Amino acid sequence: MSEHFVHPTSFIDDDVEIGEGTKIWHFCHIQSGAKIGKRCSFGQNVNVSNNVKVGDGVKVQNNVSLYEGVELGDYVFCGPSCVFTNDLTPRAKYPKGHAGYKKTVVEEGASIGANATVVCGHRIGRWALIGAGAVVTTDVPAHALMLGVPARRRGWACECGELLPEELACSKCGRKYKLRDDELEEDI
Ligand SMILES: CC(C)(COP(=O)(O)OP(=O)(O)OC[C@H]1O[C@@H](n2cnc3c(N)ncnc32)[C@H](O)[C@@H]1OP(=O)(O)O)[C@@H](O)C(=O)NCCC(=O)NCCS
Ligand SMILES: [Zn+2]
Repeated sequence: MSEHFVHPTSFIDDDVEIGEGTKIWHFCHIQSGAKIGKRCSFGQNVNVSNNVKVGDGVKVQNNVSLYEGVELGDYVFCGPSCVFTNDLTPRAKYPKGHAGYKKTVVEEGASIGANATVVCGHRIGRWALIGAGAVVTTDVPAHALMLGVPARRRGWACECGELLPEELACSKCGRKYKLRDDELEEDI
């Protein structure tokens, strides 16, 4: 058993892996088959569904459900009350079951703003920044700043979180980037 913290109001089902240093706060439910990395933090009222994989150093703020089909890379940030989905055309009368779920992959370091919605079947690229209240309906390139409904790319974000100027050099941390195949990559 790894050393992690679970508040007594939370439920952890059988067959769950939780990495060392991870903290699970009030009223959470982690369902069977979930694999959670090290040093993560889950705020109040977070649900992690069956078989969901979460990397290391991930922060999930209050009131977030990670449905089956969602995968979070290392250092992903999920803002309060952001919403994932796993069925593009849901019907109560005709449930699709596991086979009908579409995947959503959030890559390393990406942040999802408060109350944003991610429509399933898309990939959110490394270090992308999704603004508060955005509705993501497309794949998101690495480092893209996505805003609005539907979300459109309105700029680029540095790994440190600062929004980048046109020259793609961060005024805060000094990292430099270049465009390659419509995505940003660090220019080392
Ligand atoms: C996107 C964001 C980083 C921009 O911050 P900023 O650089 O200070 O932006 P500004 O407030 O100067 O706004 C710039 C423009 O973008 C618009 N804008 C800002 N945030 C927006 C959002 N989430 N959705 C749509 N438009 C937005 C502003 O209305 C403004 O438009 P205008 O130029 O037509 O007037 C910020 O607004 C945001 O959404 N951050 C996420 C916060 C969050 O959810 N945190 C979760 C943990 S607490
Ligand atoms: Zn930076």
